[in-house]
Order: sequence, then C-alpha cells, then structure tokens
Amino acid sequence: MKVTKAIFPVAGLGTRFLPVTKASPKEMLPIVDKPLIQFAVEEAVAAGIDHMVFVTGRNKRAIEDHFDKAYELETELSARGRDEMLEQVQDILPKHVTCSYVRQSVALGLGHAVLCAKAVVRDEPFAVILADDLIDAQPGCLAQMVAVFDQRQRSVIAVQDVPREDTGSYGIVEGEPDGDRLLRLTAIVEKPEPEKAPSTLAVVGRYVLAPAVMRHLEQIEAGAGGEIQLTDAIASLLRDETVLGYRFEGRRYDCGAKLGYLEANVMFGLEHPETGAEFRRFLQRLAAQDGR
Ligand code: UTP
Repeated sequence: MKVTKAIFPVAGLGTRFLPVTKASPKEMLPIVDKPLIQFAVEEAVAAGIDHMVFVTGRNKRAIEDHFDKAYELETELSARGRDEMLEQVQDILPKHVTCSYVRQSVALGLGHAVLCAKAVVRDEPFAVILADDLIDAQPGCLAQMVAVFDQRQRSVIAVQDVPREDTGSYGIVEGEPDGDRLLRLTAIVEKPEPEKAPSTLAVVGRYVLAPAVMRHLEQIEAGAGGEIQLTDAIASLLRDETVLGYRFEGRRYDCGAKLGYLEANVMFGLEHPETGAEFRRFLQRLAAQDGR
C-alpha cells in the first residue's frame, strides 16, 4: 500500500497564541515570510503525497485562500511586471496536487479532527501532519517516515526525547528496539505526569497511519482534557497490530508555543537569502550589548 493522502488538522482554537488566533488559524502564522501550513504541505509533497486534506474550523478562509488561485493579486502583479512575485504566488502548490477541505464544526480534539476526514481517506493508509510542529530536516521528516512505511507496511509515528518534566505536554510511548531508529510500541499514553510516564520518548506531529485507526477513533471515548485523542485510538490500534515509533533525523521547533515559534523565526531568518546576513549582524550587536 502507498501513502498518497495527508490530513492537516487546522481546526484547533490556538489559545496559546491569542489574540493573533482570534480571527485566523495558528497554522497561518509566518516563519519569516511563509506560513507554517505551507511548510507542512511542502513536506508532504516531498514525501510523494498528492492529496492534501485540510480539516478546518471556524477560521477556514485564510487557509483555503492561501492554496487557491488569487485572481486579483495575480492580475495586479502581472500588470506591474512583478514576475518573480507572481511566480511565487502561483507556484504554492505543484499542479498534480489536489486539496480537499473538511469541516470540524466543534473542536472536540485532534482524534476527532482526524476522524472528520474519514470519508476522504477511505480504506487507504494516510499521513497526519501537525503544522505547528515545524521540522527542519533533509530529507523531510515525512519522507523519512514514508520510506519506513513502504518497507514495513505498518503505522509509523515520529518520536523524540523530551525532558521528563515536559511529559505532561505530549503523548508518550514505550517500546522495544526494532531496527535503526525504530521501536515497536508496547504502550502509548496521552500527557502523563512525569512520575507516571513510561519513558521520555514523546510523539511529535507526524504520523503515517493504517486505515484501521479510523474504526478505533469511532469507538473511543473522550480522554485527556475531555477531548477525543488520537493517542487513545493508537493505543487501541496497538492491541490489534504493530505500530512503530520512529526517531526522525532533523530539528523540531514547537511553533504551537511562543518560545519555539520565536526560535524558528530566528533560525530561518538567519538562513533566509534576503535577511540572513543583516539579521546575523543585528543579533551579534545585540549579544555584544547584552554582554556589557
Ligand atoms: P493543539 O493541542 O496544539 O491545540 O492541537 P490548539 O487548539 O491548536 O492550540 P492551543 O493548545 O489552544 O494553543 C494540535 C493540532 O490539532 C489541531 C490543531 O489545529 C493543531 O494543529 N486540532 C486540535 C484540531 O484540528 N481540532 C481540534 O479539535 C483540536
């Protein structure tokens, strides 16, 4: 089986970023000049995925518009001879990519958001990308995971070591080593207290899932925080079939939190062809002032 579809849950309330998320989704926050959701879609395209399924909430317009044709803007840029900018706006998605939009009317949790896409993914394996986990990697994190799926034909979940005091913010896994960077999961729990966490290996926002997970999502009850948790459906799936944890290669920025978001902007700002050199000098001046 091949993975050709990716679900992007973008219907969360984004409370940690209020007021900016009052009228637009967190996934439209920019890293220098590109919204988080565009990084996520580019990562999916690089992994060979050609059908993007966005699960949107009350502020869906910004995301739909971002990936749609912008007639007025394109006409204006063309009339002004701004060809480079025009290309940038037109080439956001390669021509072979299809987008679908599904509505999650009430934010009942990540698991519920994924279940909302059931009719689109049907009985195929699919990826889930949380755009607020920005992963800088070459090849991209999802491409690494799809390569594992192609070989093993089993669900693959991205994991990363976190400090023990942070386990309460993540799904935490337990497993047996099973090849390079892989472990066969024996348990997965959502947001355990540090003293109850089975390990310090945390699930981050990348999943390649077997279609059976949808059935488990339909059956589970609300879990941590009163939400339908994807982690709980994976825990249930684990009883029927193998699920692999994958320690990805790359650097992750938690852009769902202010500090991680600022760090990502600094790092990508330093690499950006327009801003890099001058921004580096600015930071050096700032560090010198601080040292005095
Ligand atoms: P978060 O746990 O980060 O929640 O969701 P949130 O609402 O976006 O942000 P905070 O915690 O209030 O600041 C993880 C991902 O799941 C999506 C979010 O959009 C985000 O990409 N999500 C979450 C949904 O699509 N629907 C939900 O009901 C919950």
